[in-house]
Amino acid sequence: MLLTKEEKEMLSGKCGKAAKKSMEILAALGKIYGAARLVSIRSVQVAGVSYDNLGEAGLEYLEELARDGKVRVLTTLNPAGMDLENYRKLGIGEEFAGKQKRVINAFVKMGIVPSCTCTPYFIGNKPKKGEHAAWSESSAVCFANSVLGVRTNREGGPSALAAALTGKTPLYGMHIEKNRQAQVLVRVECELKETCEFGALGKAVGEKIGNRIPLIVGVKKENAGIEQLKSLCASIATYGGTAMFHMKGITPEKTEMPKEELLIGRNEISTALKEMNDDCEPDFVALGCPHLSLFELRRIAKMVKGKKVKLETWLCVSRGVKKEAEKEGIVQAIENAGIKFACDTCMVVSPIAGRFKCVATDSAKSCYYSRAKQKFKVRVGSFEKCVECAIRGKWDG
Ligand code: F3S
Repeated sequence: MLLTKEEKEMLSGKCGKAAKKSMEILAALGKIYGAARLVSIRSVQVAGVSYDNLGEAGLEYLEELARDGKVRVLTTLNPAGMDLENYRKLGIGEEFAGKQKRVINAFVKMGIVPSCTCTPYFIGNKPKKGEHAAWSESSAVCFANSVLGVRTNREGGPSALAAALTGKTPLYGMHIEKNRQAQVLVRVECELKETCEFGALGKAVGEKIGNRIPLIVGVKKENAGIEQLKSLCASIATYGGTAMFHMKGITPEKTEMPKEELLIGRNEISTALKEMNDDCEPDFVALGCPHLSLFELRRIAKMVKGKKVKLETWLCVSRGVKKEAEKEGIVQAIENAGIKFACDTCMVVSPIAGRFKCVATDSAKSCYYSRAKQKFKVRVGSFEKCVECAIRGKWDG
């Protein structure tokens, strides 16, 4: 791989140990994927932040990099294992909190903005169309490529951090125009509205096409709001692995028409929803996978006005969006109903495995990981149905 003078200096150790280690990672990646050179990036989003996932080895690795590592571009973080301010309210112990704080301190020492969210585009980390980035949260990567027109591969935590510490990433995969063309035409033949239906679409498509890029047609543009799109991005990346889709009227770049075709009708959506529903009565409601938007918080505030929830209910959201909601008086209204904010974290990366029996959510991605990682049973329904379930304490009215 061709390296510039500056990149060679980083590799030689002239710019410090962290830059050297990072350049070694990028050079190795570039070699594996046949990249001709590195490309400058404008933004990074680093996953692998929860101590629950990192463990001691991960923490030590970060602290070592933080000795002399400094990021060169705007870099934010994926959710951590706890709300960094109100972790006690969510039942997180002091020992875990101590470790998680050390993880965050190491990132901050490197110059990373400690905004822990999977929706960085809501809090100012939003590159422009055509810009190169190195993001690692799979739902955010899909959103960046498909909705924003940003060019990013689906990075691992270490490769995203290496990109942040050097300002570069190998030029391969989604950074190259010809690799961004759709490979399968997905014709949606039923009307979708709810976030859970877009999640079901992601599951149905993802399981059929794997990591190939679909061109999705038949979804009404007025039904595909930011909330529906983030739900689809999270789901299609989880159940299939693609880093991008094209959707007519949404994706800001062109694609050739693929030959292979896949039909998705009401049957496929219903089947996906059925497969995500266990026969269980929720004792936990968790919304915000991916992290909630201000619009969603407004919706919840309206629904719970003057009411109290009967079940433990978490809203997973970035601290930045919560602050915006605070200005509108929404946070107080929601907390008055007994709902808890889980900022900086989420129902999947926090250390709550086995704490609940059955979670109610509108998210297909949350369903997947709540089963696999947290060992919960799951109920998936509309956003409204989840809020109503929290209020009446039962899934079905
Ligand atoms: Fe975000 Fe956690 Fe879901 S990181 S996409 S809320 S699993």
